[in-house]
Amino acid sequence: MRIRKARLKDFEELYKLGNSIQELKTSDDKGFLEPEDLKYFLTDEKSSFLVTEILFHTHSKIVGNKIVGFSLAVQEGPTYASLVYSAVDPAYRRRGIHSAMLKEQEKIMRERGVNSIYLLATNQDFVNVMKRFGYTEGKRLTWMYKDL
Ligand SMILES: CC(C)(COP(=O)(O)OP(=O)(O)OC[C@H]1O[C@@H](n2cnc3c(N)ncnc32)[C@H](O)[C@@H]1OP(=O)(O)O)[C@@H](O)C(=O)NCCC(=O)NCCS
Repeated sequence: MRIRKARLKDFEELYKLGNSIQELKTSDDKGFLEPEDLKYFLTDEKSSFLVTEILFHTHSKIVGNKIVGFSLAVQEGPTYASLVYSAVDPAYRRRGIHSAMLKEQEKIMRERGVNSIYLLATNQDFVNVMKRFGYTEGKRLTWMYKDL
């Protein structure tokens, strides 16, 4: 298994994986990212898009790969960033994949001068997971949106 930066050519695989994970939905009528937004984040310099992939070997040659998790963080300003998406394929959970990507995202953001990361959690399990990594529950935010 290895963590690397996502590339535009990962688009199809990421789009499929993202849409297969129910917890990423922010409301009943919203799925994962729109295709053009996913492409945007895959190329945007303020974003840090990481994937974890497993590699398949034959005779010590890499013959294939499969993305099993991803993490998207976006630098919103000089000192703060948001963790937009964290997801791991259900078949690969509880193996430390999220922990490893989160550690890497925090390192990347710290190196850019970021000193605070926020996130919006879509479910209580995720809140509990993030508390284990030192994230504190805020009190005042309500998720609002409008389609234009
Ligand atoms: C949340 C999520 C990313 C965690 O991924 P993961 O790779 O399984 O997490 P890790 O293996 O790194 O877990 C790290 C620690 O978090 C905790 N944890 C992980 N999943 C948990 C769960 N469902 N309930 C409670 N604690 C959990 C555990 O303490 C775990 O350590 P342990 O296994 O040694 O006890 C994954 O469950 C997921 O993709 N969920 C659906 C998507 C989602 O909700 N994303 C957030 C909304 S944007």
